[in-house]
Amino acid sequence: MPRLPALLLVLSAALVGAAIGLLVGDDRAWVTGAGAAAGLLVGAFGAWLLLRRPRRLTGGADAQAVADLPLVAHVPPPGGDEADRRRAEEAFRMLRAALSPVRDGDTPARPVLVTSAAPGEGKTTVAAGLARALARAGRPVVAVEADLRRPGLAAALGRDDAGGAGPSTVGAPLRGLTAAIVGGVPVADLLVEVEPGLRLLPAGELPPNAPELLGGPDARRVLDELLALGVDVVLDTAPLLPVADTRELLARAGDVRVVLVARPGVADRDELRGAAALVPASTAPILVVSGRAKAPRSYDQYLRDGAGV
Ligand SMILES: Nc1ncnc2c1ncn2[C@@H]1O[C@H](COP(=O)(O)OP(=O)(O)OP(=O)(O)O)[C@@H](O)[C@H]1O
Ligand SMILES: [Mg+2]
Repeated sequence: MPRLPALLLVLSAALVGAAIGLLVGDDRAWVTGAGAAAGLLVGAFGAWLLLRRPRRLTGGADAQAVADLPLVAHVPPPGGDEADRRRAEEAFRMLRAALSPVRDGDTPARPVLVTSAAPGEGKTTVAAGLARALARAGRPVVAVEADLRRPGLAAALGRDDAGGAGPSTVGAPLRGLTAAIVGGVPVADLLVEVEPGLRLLPAGELPPNAPELLGGPDARRVLDELLALGVDVVLDTAPLLPVADTRELLARAGDVRVVLVARPGVADRDELRGAAALVPASTAPILVVSGRAKAPRSYDQYLRDGAGV
């Protein structure tokens, strides 16, 4: 609410209070004054309530307005019922459609970088779902665990048995992204099969200097190596606000598309606004909201019809 109407609200509440004081107070000045003071307090409280902008994200439409980005999909929580599973699958297809063509004819693919403002907003879930959706559309995909702080992509893709992420261990280096960046190991030797058309590049040893690694020229070399394999690349990354990793990666990675994941209840409006402002417009960023959403019943009926149930 603009400030002028709020001020008018305070003044009119004070006047109403004074008028009530006049009416009930029989011309006694102190009652009129007390009425005006009470009205002032009530008006000030009302104006404060109106001026206080809600900081919490209230849902998809709010996130879209705050981030000022196109909202392309709303992903329901994992582990829900059959209807949630269908909605999630469809959401990842919508995301895939919004990113198409990731590769355009003979031009090199644009890697898709999935990030968010704060931790725990659903980046890894979205990166895994998008990678699967791309693979199921017949596009060879490599999903890259580029969150070198809290790698979770291998687990999300059901390959946490691949042993490609963790703390440093002497004598038995873990095989993954950091081995390619630091050790120059050919990236093709580090890929782990997930399902037909989908491979994973695990994180590897978790380094103490993730921002430097991700923002260095060797990270760019690894990305180019991946693209030279003729695959779509989906990068699961660290959140933008607490650490510099993804900002460094964005500065170095060149021509990427950014998917910003927002989860109402986890990040607030200021955080989402701040994160969106950090994403260069050249990455044509799009927004995905995770969490429960209200959708018309007819949408679910449509999904069931499409599934032949
Ligand atoms: N679409 C969703 N709706 C609601 N909850 C979700 C959704 N996706 C993931 N979650 C939940 O949020 C938590 C974090 O999910 P996920 O690991 O995908 O997020 P993240 O952003 O990668 O987290 P981190 O920043 O720790 O890497 C998990 O408990 C997961 O079950
Ligand atoms: Mg994650």
